[in-house]
Amino acid sequence: MSARAQIGVTGLAVMGRNLARNFARHGFTVAVHNRSYAKTASLITEAGHEGDFVPSESVADFVASLERPRKVVVMVKAGAATDAVIDELVPLLSEGDIVVDAGNAHFPDTIRREKALRERGLHFVGTGVSGGEEGALLGPSIMPGGTRESYESLGPILEAISAKVDGTPCCAYVGPDGAGHFVKMVHNGIEYADMQLIAEAYDLLRQGLGASAAEIGKIFEEWNSGDLESFLIEITAKVLAHTDAATGQAFVDVVLDQAEQKGTGRWTVQNGLDLGVPITGIAEATFARALSGSVPQREAGRAALPADAAPLQVPADDAARAAFVQDVRQALYASKVVAYSQGFDQIAAASAENGWDIDRGAMARIWRGGCIIRARFLNRITEAYDRDPDLPLLLADPYFTQAVSTGLAAWRRVVAQAAAAGIPTPAFSSSLAYYDGVRAERLPAALIQAQRDYFGAHTYRRTDREGSFHTQWSGDRSEVEA
Ligand code: 6PG
Repeated sequence: MSARAQIGVTGLAVMGRNLARNFARHGFTVAVHNRSYAKTASLITEAGHEGDFVPSESVADFVASLERPRKVVVMVKAGAATDAVIDELVPLLSEGDIVVDAGNAHFPDTIRREKALRERGLHFVGTGVSGGEEGALLGPSIMPGGTRESYESLGPILEAISAKVDGTPCCAYVGPDGAGHFVKMVHNGIEYADMQLIAEAYDLLRQGLGASAAEIGKIFEEWNSGDLESFLIEITAKVLAHTDAATGQAFVDVVLDQAEQKGTGRWTVQNGLDLGVPITGIAEATFARALSGSVPQREAGRAALPADAAPLQVPADDAARAAFVQDVRQALYASKVVAYSQGFDQIAAASAENGWDIDRGAMARIWRGGCIIRARFLNRITEAYDRDPDLPLLLADPYFTQAVSTGLAAWRRVVAQAAAAGIPTPAFSSSLAYYDGVRAERLPAALIQAQRDYFGAHTYRRTDREGSFHTQWSGDRSEVEA
């Protein structure tokens, strides 16, 4: 077996297979391997003409077919399967070789694996890959972590197969060890928030206009040519326009209203809690999925809790309908800005905690194309971090301050109308509450500190002088310095 392949892919389910084809289509010689040879064989039969593939039945032959330093992309199910493949590969590799985990691994696992492989003289690159099956084939957004040294030889190959926006690859070095998978995790958290916000907007429009799913789809299609232009808005319009062949009903009406998840949103929220970063949009979106799937609770709630609220009034004239649509659009954009702002804050906090030195502007840049949250407004995020790389709050960037304040009155109207009509808008409402919280001169947290001191002598700090204090609540209520 001559070592001639520039990159290898092991794990040829649809994502791995499409990544391998993408490498081959870009002129790389690709070693391919799968646990059962049938998948490798079918790849060669069906796509062999697309480029130069080197198929192998055994892991040993697969490794032997790769040029040094070897670059092996592992594309298997996150968790135990990834560990099993790594364990099989490692004894066959040589110093300086690079193992790339392109699955949706949990970043603490990536930190662990990177350390273990580094101790054996190998590079381990945990990389986020977004864009689903089509992205893997036609150009995903790629978020590689690991050592900078590994990026020098691996980066150009990944950049070549990534999506391009204005000629710029949607792939950039993220940071050491788990940074790549961390950023992908937050990408997915933001994806959850974005999807929930779109779903809330859809619900409001449907109930508020008394319109059909297809009519609402047209509104999303229009929105896709403005600030909101994004992959998720585009597919929303398409999904809403779709009719179920079996029943003739709107497709969205025949889908069970229980949203599932594979867990990346949950990880993002757990990490937000660990870091103490309020990623309320992502959290509400994740909990909204949980609520939708809480079948016994929903049955009990439906049966016991009265439908007290008056439904939204459907506006009679066109001008009022258009104004309502405008309001929902502005509420959606403002809430979306909050969700992204929170996600980027989370990246900043994790970067500081782990010493990753993640360039947030670069992350927004590589999310402009290929990935699920690709959107026009990511350019604005890059520009904001170009203006101030240490921006403490994305919302404080002049563009976003302006964008949100323009829609503020509409946002408040929509949240108030939804509350009055009993329409759940957890992500819209919590994003507005976050906005008001983060801009507040003074928060009632002062009272919480006082309560904590009362029942647990947890102490508090004062507005007028340095130090920590305790009031002797059960005694004479005099204050002592703690
Ligand atoms: C992507 C997606 C993808 C994820 C799906 C499903 O970036 O291509 O984020 O990685 O698997 O979105 O996620 P849930 O099953 O958790 O909704």
